[in-house]
Amino acid sequence: MLRYFTAGESHGEALVAFLSGMPAGLEIDQAFVDRELWRRQQGYGRGGRMKIERDSAHILSGVRHGKTIGSPISMQLENRDWKNWQQSLPVEAGDPEKHKRVASPRPGHADLAGALKFNFPEARYVLERASARESAARVAIGAIAKLYLRALGIEVLSHVVTTGAVTVSEQVPWEKVKALYDREEVLLNCADKELELRMKEEVDKVLKTGDSLGGVFEVIAHNVPPGLGTYAQWDERLDGMLAGAVMSLQAVKAVEIGSGVAAAFSPGSLVHDEIGYAATSGFTAFSRTRNNAGGIEGGISNGEEIRVRGYLKPISTLRRPLQSVDFSTREPVKAAYERSDVCVVPAAGVAAEAMVALTLARCALDKFGGDSLTETVRNFQGYCQQIKNF
Ligand SMILES: Cc1cc2nc3c(=O)[nH]c(=O)nc-3n(C[C@H](O)[C@H](O)[C@H](O)COP(=O)(O)O)c2cc1C
Repeated sequence: MLRYFTAGESHGEALVAFLSGMPAGLEIDQAFVDRELWRRQQGYGRGGRMKIERDSAHILSGVRHGKTIGSPISMQLENRDWKNWQQSLPVEAGDPEKHKRVASPRPGHADLAGALKFNFPEARYVLERASARESAARVAIGAIAKLYLRALGIEVLSHVVTTGAVTVSEQVPWEKVKALYDREEVLLNCADKELELRMKEEVDKVLKTGDSLGGVFEVIAHNVPPGLGTYAQWDERLDGMLAGAVMSLQAVKAVEIGSGVAAAFSPGSLVHDEIGYAATSGFTAFSRTRNNAGGIEGGISNGEEIRVRGYLKPISTLRRPLQSVDFSTREPVKAAYERSDVCVVPAAGVAAEAMVALTLARCALDKFGGDSLTETVRNFQGYCQQIKNF
């Protein structure tokens, strides 16, 4: 069973990520892991922090001589900002005068609910963990999951569908999304260059007015065999697992599989993907005329591309803050402001790729098993042969 979790505060010394259950013998490409971390830091509309952080995953365990050894993998991501926070966020008691209070909760952030829940007088500790800095740790372990999936021929990438009022209305083909991955400069990670420039104008508007923006990203998993996940039990459905994984990301407020939202407003004849039997490539000779299902039927991958969209609410820290209440005096004040991103759709897409990759890797391991990669790949190939001959 593939298991993973993370630890670390946003301005603490480091983030830590754990990944347990990865088979032995998987080659770890450190440059690939660090490039994934770099991708999460990109995008127009990010705050100043991205300029000081250049994330790198320091592997502490589970990898020897460049390959996984089947024991738990742990990684550390240094917070370069820690040097500026050692006095105000120490592990030991420290000097209370130097603590940086978050005096008034930001509407939309975890500040108020977290302070009430954990009985904190203000929200510093809340934002330290609720912050999406945590998603960097997920991207690090997600990169290992991607390397594992790559050994089975599966790839996972994302692109931006909506920023503010600008939306890509056509379905974007895999090749165009793959081409985005090779870009050395990331603006809004949109496959349509003209729309990308219009998205930038949307971000410019909120940068001027002290506001923020949300949007929509789409994660595509390419070359996934039919048969991952199952309808046999509610919590083993692939659609449910993916929805939970993507929704667990900070600021994601809705998840859509395939054309799920439009499907609810359309007759069946316009939604369901008709079946043929003439395919010359792919896992089987069965074919589909379209992919409104987003590659999943009955909680099982059906051999088409898996397409999952995440809908992000706008960033809640505003340079022109909304109304709030002072934690100490209970008087009305403006919400706290701390250096912040104004738009993060491309970065959220990268974090969601990690969550999708971890989910698919878990399902693939459930299906194909294997303590070593050799064993997994042998089982995978045997299954591919079985469905080819079906
Ligand atoms: C990549 C990424 C970066 C984010 N950066 C910020 C930020 O700089 N400022 C902020 O207020 N929220 C930011 N958020 C969103 C908050 O983390 C999130 O809204 C908050 O933790 C409350 O959780 P919720 O929105 O899921 O309810 C970011 C989210 C993501 C995915």
